[in-house]
Amino acid sequence: MTSNLPVRYGVEEGTLPPERVQAMFDRIARPYDVMNRVMTAGLDVRWRRLAAEATEVGAGASVLDCCCGTADLTVELAKRVGPSGEVIGLDFAERMLDRGRIKLAKRDLDHATLIHGDALDLPFEDDRFAAATVAFGIRNVADLGRGFRELVRVVRPGGKVVCLEITTPESGPAAAFHRLWFGRLVPGFGRLVDKQDSAYVYLPASVKRFPGPTRLAEVMYEAGLEDVRYRALGGGIVALHVGTVRRQGE
Ligand SMILES: C[S@@+](CC[C@H](N)C(=O)[O-])C[C@H]1O[C@@H](n2cnc3c(N)ncnc32)[C@H](O)[C@@H]1O
Repeated sequence: MTSNLPVRYGVEEGTLPPERVQAMFDRIARPYDVMNRVMTAGLDVRWRRLAAEATEVGAGASVLDCCCGTADLTVELAKRVGPSGEVIGLDFAERMLDRGRIKLAKRDLDHATLIHGDALDLPFEDDRFAAATVAFGIRNVADLGRGFRELVRVVRPGGKVVCLEITTPESGPAAAFHRLWFGRLVPGFGRLVDKQDSAYVYLPASVKRFPGPTRLAEVMYEAGLEDVRYRALGGGIVALHVGTVRRQGE
């Protein structure tokens, strides 16, 4: 099993120890949603909707949104499962969760709950959920393989694990756009909101070191998922991966 353990930590390397990742997201929680909309020209809203659809769950289902942040995907999932269902959003940055809780309350989504926790040590029993999602989160987790194994553990066999993540196009116009966007514009925007200069320098560096979509699909397979598929979104700057939890003995 190969995992994506960082060789050395550093903003420029795109790897940070968990406590620094947590502190960084707490620091940028307030402008986080606006930055997302601006940096993706609003496309992130559609991407999360597609991620919620990819869970294939219906009314009454129980779903985990891991690394939920300010709960945008949690909201989509809560709409999907309806009041007879249940969505739990988990994140280790309290300030991100605070903003998510306000969002859920405004929309009367009482069947969605946000809890503080670590993606690498999920506080749930095996087979607890019908599906699990992680959007723009797994790239920040210190051990990629373990992150997926935890998601697989808490989802019932046959359920979906859905991963939405920034990726690096290898060639073509998307690759040039990607270099301009993540290499120059994102750090520029970032300096406006994070005076410590880490968040949006770390972001492009973390994207650069993250495995491409084919390798990511392999990591998901190795973690216990089958029929892993992905599609490129946003002209290839984002990938939506979906796998099905393998039944025991398969
Ligand atoms: C880029 S944000 C994504 C938030 C949200 N899913 C979205 O779609 O906007 C990444 C989130 O992952 C969380 N995170 C990173 N590593 C984590 C871990 N080991 N356990 C729990 N949350 C983690 C961060 O606190 C942050 O809120």
